[in-house]
Amino acid sequence: MITYQHEQDVAVLTVENPPVNALSPGVAEALQAAIEKANADAEVRAIMVIGGGRTFIAGADVNEFGKPSAAQYVAKLRACANAIENSAKPVVMAIHGAALGGGLEVALAGHYRVIAPGAQVGQPEVKLGLIPGMGGTQRLPRLAGVAKAAEMCAFGVPVKAKEALAAGIVDQIVEGDLRAGAIAFAQTVAGKPIPRTRDRKIAAAEPAVVAALLDQARKKMRGQNAPLVAIAAVEAAARLPLDAGLAEEAEKFDAVLRSTESKALIYSFFSERAAAKIAGLPAETVPYEIRGAAIVGAGTMGGGIAMALANAGIPVRLKETTEETLGRGVNNIHRNYASAVTSGRMSQEAMDQKLALITPQLTYDGFAQADLIIEAVFENLGVKQSVFRELDGVAKAGCVLATNTSSLDIDKIAAVTRRADMVIGVHFFSPAHVMRLVEIVPGKTTRPEVLATALALTKKLGKAGVRAGNCHGFIGNRMINVYGREAQFLVEEGATVEQVNQALYDFGMAMGPLAMFDLVGNDVVLNITAAPGAGGIRQPIVLPKLCSLGRLGQKSGRGWSSYDAKRKASPDAETAALIRSTAAEAGIIQREISSEEIIDRCVLALVNEGARVLEEGMAQRASDIDVVYLTGYGFPAWRGGPMFYADTIGLPKVLGRIREFEARHGSSLWNPAPLLQRLEEAGQTFTQALP
Ligand code: NAI
Repeated sequence: MITYQHEQDVAVLTVENPPVNALSPGVAEALQAAIEKANADAEVRAIMVIGGGRTFIAGADVNEFGKPSAAQYVAKLRACANAIENSAKPVVMAIHGAALGGGLEVALAGHYRVIAPGAQVGQPEVKLGLIPGMGGTQRLPRLAGVAKAAEMCAFGVPVKAKEALAAGIVDQIVEGDLRAGAIAFAQTVAGKPIPRTRDRKIAAAEPAVVAALLDQARKKMRGQNAPLVAIAAVEAAARLPLDAGLAEEAEKFDAVLRSTESKALIYSFFSERAAAKIAGLPAETVPYEIRGAAIVGAGTMGGGIAMALANAGIPVRLKETTEETLGRGVNNIHRNYASAVTSGRMSQEAMDQKLALITPQLTYDGFAQADLIIEAVFENLGVKQSVFRELDGVAKAGCVLATNTSSLDIDKIAAVTRRADMVIGVHFFSPAHVMRLVEIVPGKTTRPEVLATALALTKKLGKAGVRAGNCHGFIGNRMINVYGREAQFLVEEGATVEQVNQALYDFGMAMGPLAMFDLVGNDVVLNITAAPGAGGIRQPIVLPKLCSLGRLGQKSGRGWSSYDAKRKASPDAETAALIRSTAAEAGIIQREISSEEIIDRCVLALVNEGARVLEEGMAQRASDIDVVYLTGYGFPAWRGGPMFYADTIGLPKVLGRIREFEARHGSSLWNPAPLLQRLEEAGQTFTQALP
């Protein structure tokens, strides 16, 4: 794991744990042993540590954090860092690629750090609900100051070489050969007094700076505790000698490691990887290569998907029906890219390159060469079928034909072609160039290669592809229907719009459900919620009225709330009166409703429907449902997703609450899912079967 070489009087220790030199069990021990060996080696005057392959140490081994042996694992990492710091011979860390998390902490324990120009360093532990646990919160502020260190530990954003140099985290940028440069550097420091991080002076933490960071963390990382703990740990570094600070960090680390937040975030990290494994799809299935794509429909979705493809370097033809709709679609794309340029997220050159990959057109020119065609026309079966008939006529053999439908039957669309096996649903979310979720929906006869192509495509686009079954609304929208329905029932029963939105926002959702409706458009919501087979079940009664009054949401300035020119929401008294009168007409008695009830009814409706989705095989595993909700619906990642959340509060409690709702609101809405009942009886959970 560690190779040991002499370069004159420098011992070069190379960490070899491909692919990213993670600190898997044994690596830290081997590194510590190599440091000790170099100290005992009479020929050695300085030690240099470098990563083999494409990077320095990319971090700790996340797998280990979930195991009962986590404490022993972390103890070994800490011992390694301390051994490095206490080395009697100077230790120079040579960083290329990335030194993240435990990787940076190893580097911080060294006495000097040199870095390749393209490398970056960071403490991203908060993204897993953790804080640095092998000295990062104590050593980083001794190099970079409390403010910078607290920022890095609380927000987890890595910094590039130049910034790391300016912040004092590294001592030198080495242009050219890093290994040779680092050895030369080590030779210049051999025999000199060792500047140990522990001895560095550290300026007191400015209370105002710390308060501002805490404030920012509460806003940016809403609902999460780890960022606040990280700031407190860094702040302690300014008060305590290193050893006492390390003890404080260890205590805090152990506490966050036990938290539901870290369990949920680590779970969601692994869930996304698990989603890429599709049962029944042999690993050796070869996807079609996508060199060029085409899209039908340049509306909201077609335009966004074109950007997503262009962003990944895939040339794409974008077809519309009229000059006017084409012009509008192209304008939207320009506007979106231009705003990325204005805000500094993209260079003008990059924008021009991406735009050059998109060819707007009114004909099927060039469609015959496309390897993939994505249909994104109106959500209407007849319209989609006629497009697919045309595509069947123009597409080459071996072209994947995809539909972005959000609710229609993939098989009915595929059936109008002579190649149903080449047809698949790829359900992007809006805005498609931003949202990471893509539900991949194979039909009855979709070829494995086509499924593999859709999966490979989502990976190439940097998105989270989740296989969903071909049912109404697939996974996400099918579940959001019951969630949104409860939100509406709650206002019909007496909760205010603001109360419902606030309760779920405070729960951690990106926005409240009625705010989401106003964003999406109440007409669109009405269209999707009028699901087949919904008859006989209580239906929301305010939504149709809002739509008939033209209160469609943000786009019309009024909906569940009122919106100003900047789309800022405020309570709408007329909507409130409409809700009251509609409820009274329907004989619904309004009452006080608690935030707890709001959360339970909305979120447990998701859970109960999720259980059915799972039982019917529409989702492969509970964690796939969670990935859908985290990447497509703004569910808080630190709660793991609806199914993981149900597990954390306990299925007996979930089932008990659902039974209460069933008693009050009837079985047609709240009949507990059989799978939920079975798991509860067996003392099991939804997510324990995560592979
Ligand atoms: P849209 O109304 O914004 O765009 C549809 C576009 O297709 C229009 O510009 C129309 O002119 C064009 N079109 C219609 N027939 C055509 C044809 N034969 N050839 C070329 N262009 C044609 O609709 P949107 O919102 O983009 O939706 C498209 C599809 O994506 C629908 O199936 C919808 O259910 C689905 N979807 C929509 C989401 C959303 O949030 N808007 C989210 C996920 C899926």
